This record gives sequence, structure tokens and C-alpha cells, in this order.
Amino acid sequence: MTLGLLREATRSRLRRGIVAASALVVSAGMVGVAVPQATAAAAPAPAPAVQQVENPYAGATGYVNPAYAANVEDSAAQAGGDVGTRMRQLASIPTAVWLDRIAAVTGGSGVNMTLRDHLDAAVAQGADVATFVVYDLPNRDCAALASNGELLVSENGMERYRTEYIDPIAEAMSDPAYANLRKVAIVEPDSLPNLVTNLNEPRCQEANSSGAYVEGIRYALNQLRPIENTYLYIDIAHSGWLGWDSNFQPAVNLIGDTIKGADAGVNSVDGFISNTANYTPTEEPYLPDSNLSVGGQPVRSSTFYEWNPYFDELDYAQAMRTAFVNAGFPSSIGMLVDTGRNGWGGADRPSGVSGSGDLNTYVNESRTDRRPHRGGWCNQSGAGIGTRPTASPASGVDAYVWVKPPGESDGISEPNPPPDPNDPNKTHDPMCDPDAQNRYNTAYPTNALDNAPHAGRWFHDQLVMLVQNSFPAL
Ligand code: GLC
Repeated sequence: MTLGLLREATRSRLRRGIVAASALVVSAGMVGVAVPQATAAAAPAPAPAVQQVENPYAGATGYVNPAYAANVEDSAAQAGGDVGTRMRQLASIPTAVWLDRIAAVTGGSGVNMTLRDHLDAAVAQGADVATFVVYDLPNRDCAALASNGELLVSENGMERYRTEYIDPIAEAMSDPAYANLRKVAIVEPDSLPNLVTNLNEPRCQEANSSGAYVEGIRYALNQLRPIENTYLYIDIAHSGWLGWDSNFQPAVNLIGDTIKGADAGVNSVDGFISNTANYTPTEEPYLPDSNLSVGGQPVRSSTFYEWNPYFDELDYAQAMRTAFVNAGFPSSIGMLVDTGRNGWGGADRPSGVSGSGDLNTYVNESRTDRRPHRGGWCNQSGAGIGTRPTASPASGVDAYVWVKPPGESDGISEPNPPPDPNDPNKTHDPMCDPDAQNRYNTAYPTNALDNAPHAGRWFHDQLVMLVQNSFPAL
């Protein structure tokens, strides 16, 4: 970083009143910037390699993806009436940009805006922070079929991931034109969690034995970490996946060791994100204590919670944060929670604690999460828009963010979709078929919506439902 760049970045931070002590030292000789006397007199300190704020979302205006806003506007016009009016509000809410293929970074057929286009648009908007999802590991989505990626371990995927995907991301993000923009990278949702619980799947085995996920993530951290004003958050799935005692600590160990093996060790990340693209509520207001005894049994032993002690994302994220700090990570780490689609409002939302003395009735009447089974992840019926993006909403939490853009499908519902040249890697996962059984517990339906397009494509009917069930209500 040149001093000129540093000056610009520092000036902008001073304007926003969020300057860190180290930046003040560096700004000592700057023209036109007031510097406290004591700091100006101190011996010049070397410029820090990376100018970071502690929480990139604090006091920051988020980037509104114009492509997302346009889809919302179209759907709002189509819906009309009260739903259309409520929906239109989403067109000004920041959502993450998914870099879900090489072309999303550098351009290609079917891609309207490259990474640089988004960065330019963010600067032009005057946004302070833009969120990007880094999502193209070889053997991606190894335990499912809806979001498989373009790279394979067996086809030189690792090398292509480095040179054709991560390197161009790093090159774009390090352009001085974007130095003042806080660039947040959500690193590879679902990947390491799949190595914790899904090694029975051959494609996950290969991702594990080849080192593709661990080495790919380390490479991403090593390339992106040194870039000024860039923030990295690693995926920790959600409470309904890794919350069980038998998964929780193994996840902390694998994810923690992966990060510790990167160049900057535990300082390679700013924190972790839970609930990416999932539907687990941020809070279960009527079930605050998973050990509460009802009918002589703890509520966590109910059929719905299956002994998992974590019912919601806030409890889970805060417990994960503590576990990572105990594992040697700095106490400055913060958590993110994807709240785009975990609202569970509408007429069926319970309004208080059940009075039943029967354990399962009590849980079913009290829970806001109305999935038949917590493993349901594809286009869940009954879900609603959740809490709007919020900085510093709770202790240890950097922000509630919208990572999965509400209205984009999780996967195609049609069991035998014709091949799609524009999305050759997206196929049908039975979890997206409303008529199939939930494969994690075949006693339950998938709860997926019908008539869903491929993952990532616009799904108007889903957005109408999400708006109708929004909580807090739009
Ligand atoms: C899914 C899709 C991906 C899309 C993302 C956001 O993971 O596979 O293509 O960008 O969701 O909707």
C-alpha cells in the first residue's frame, strides 16, 4: 500500500469518526487532518500492513445490488397491491453478491455484472461496505445436488480455483480504487461443515482426502487477508446442523485448524457466519432454555430438537464464538447471522409459550420455526423475511446480514429437469421436491415449495410468501 492510498483510506475513516489508533499515528504528517498533539509527537510507527476496522458493518451503509433490486421491482410490480408495496422495500436493502462461478468474477455468458462492476457500483453508490460470497471450491456442495459447482478435484479443479478464481478476486479487491470500501468475503459456505458430518458421501471424501477444501480455503485466506479494508468470515453452518454436542467441537477443531494453517494463523479471519442461506430462527423467543423440563424431560429431547441443545442462531453463534476464543482466536472476532429468510411470521406464528404439559405438544406450540424437520433447507414453505440487516445487534455479533438474497431459489423442484446449458452444474436434489421425503429423517416431508427454478434463479412465488410471512413484518 502506498502512503497516498493510506492517506485516502485514513481520511475517509476520520470523516466517519471510526479511525483506529494506528491510523492516527500514520496520519501524523498529513496536511489538513487534525491529529492529537500527543500522537503527533510520538515516534513514527511503521504503517500497518492492513488497515482494518473491528466491525466492518458498524456505522456503515451497505451496497445494494442493482441486479437484485431490479428483480425485486419486477416481482413487486407483478404482485401488485399490498404485497407489492411491502415487497418493494426490499429493493433498497443490501444483499450479498455471490461469486458462484469464475464468470461471476471475470465475466462470461449469463453474467451481467462482474466483481469489478459490483465494486464500481458500490463506490458510485457511496456505500461503505459490500459483501461477497466466495463460493467455487472444487467438488462444491459435495453432499447435495442443487448447487454443485463448475470445478472438480479430478479435473485440475484446485489449480483452476487458485489461478482462475481466487487470484482474480484478490486482484480486483486490491485495486486502489476500492481502498475505501470495506469488502467483506463470506468464505465457502457449507464446505468445512460437510467435512464434519458428510464424509459418507464420495464427493466429500474426495474433497477431504485431496485437501481441496482445507487447502482451497487457506489459499483464499492467504490471498485476501493482506488486502486493505477486506474482512473475512468463515461459515459455521447453523445450529440445526452443527449444534449437537457430537458435531460442535469437531467443527470448531476442523474449522479452527484450517484457519490456523493459513499464513496469518488465527488472525486470518474477522469472524464466522451462521445460517447462510438457511431458515433457522435468530431467536426462539418462547423456548429460551433448551434444558427446561416439561413433562419430566428437557425440551431439547423433544422430537423436533432431537437432543440438539441449540434451538436458534443467536445462542449458537455466541457459543461458537466462545469456543473459537477458547481455541486461541482473538476476542476481537465477531459473528454474522444470515437473517434474510428466517423470520417465520404470518398467521401461524405462535404468540406465546404453550400451556401444554406434553413435551412435544409444548415444543410444537411454542416454536416459531415451522419446518416439519430442521434438516429442511430447500425453498422452505412457511418461511418469512427475517430481521433487516443490523450492525452490532447483540453481544459478540458484528451484524445480521442478508447473504442469501430472498427470492433466489435454493434448488429446482422438478425431479427430471432438462439439461440447462446456462447452468450445467445445477441439478435436482430430492430435498427440493415437495413430494419427496426428507433424507435426513424419512419420516418427514421435505417441506420444499413446488415450481422452483434452479438454485440462484429468481423465484417470484417464494418471494411473495417470504414477504407475507415476514417478521418483523414488512
Ligand atoms: C445458490 C446457488 C448460487 C447462487 C446462490 C445465491 O447457492 O448455487 O448459484 O448464486 O445460491 O442465490
